[in-house]
Amino acid sequence: MPDTAIFETIDPRTLRDCCGRFATGVTVVTTRTPEGDHGTTVSAFMSVSLEPPLISISLDRRSKMLGKLRKSCRFAVNILSQNMRSHAMHFAGRPDDTLTNLFQDRDGLPTLRGAAAILVADVVRHVEAGDHVILLGHVRHLDRDPTAEPLLYHGGQFGSLAIHP
Ligand SMILES: Cc1cc2nc3c(=O)[nH]c(=O)nc-3n(C[C@H](O)[C@H](O)[C@H](O)COP(=O)(O)O)c2cc1C
Repeated sequence: MPDTAIFETIDPRTLRDCCGRFATGVTVVTTRTPEGDHGTTVSAFMSVSLEPPLISISLDRRSKMLGKLRKSCRFAVNILSQNMRSHAMHFAGRPDDTLTNLFQDRDGLPTLRGAAAILVADVVRHVEAGDHVILLGHVRHLDRDPTAEPLLYHGGQFGSLAIHP
């Protein structure tokens, strides 16, 4: 085995901080089960394939959303627009009573009013990945607001886009 394959011990917090240098958008993943509607803030969203249309999300094994998606097998990715920071916190375990009438039904799932884009998908694969599970989704329905500016997340803080001229 070459010397380069000797692994360093990676501290989880340092790994999180390092990956946090990668700027992302912010989504709220929503689903519906017989127990009701549920949403969770997720930045680990990725476009995977255009043909067939595939997307993925990565969920903490401990999240409620994972158990719900194992049952419902369907989810919507709601890409947040820049004025939806309070939504991001609300669905990350900091409930905000001032947010009301959040959902509208689309394709049999709850979706967020005011989202910049919405992708509704069927779960086609679970990949167990350490303390997370990656879910691969086949996109069945799409919607977007081409005028919406995205909410961004970087280094543990929210931000908005500055377009370079
Ligand atoms: C900006 C932001 C991004 C997040 N991204 C993820 C993510 O990609 N995957 C994940 O499992 N949790 C992520 N979280 C944490 C969950 O939103 C949080 O743990 C939530 O309370 C889980 O809800 P649940 O247990 O009801 O599913 C993120 C939180 C924030 C604020």
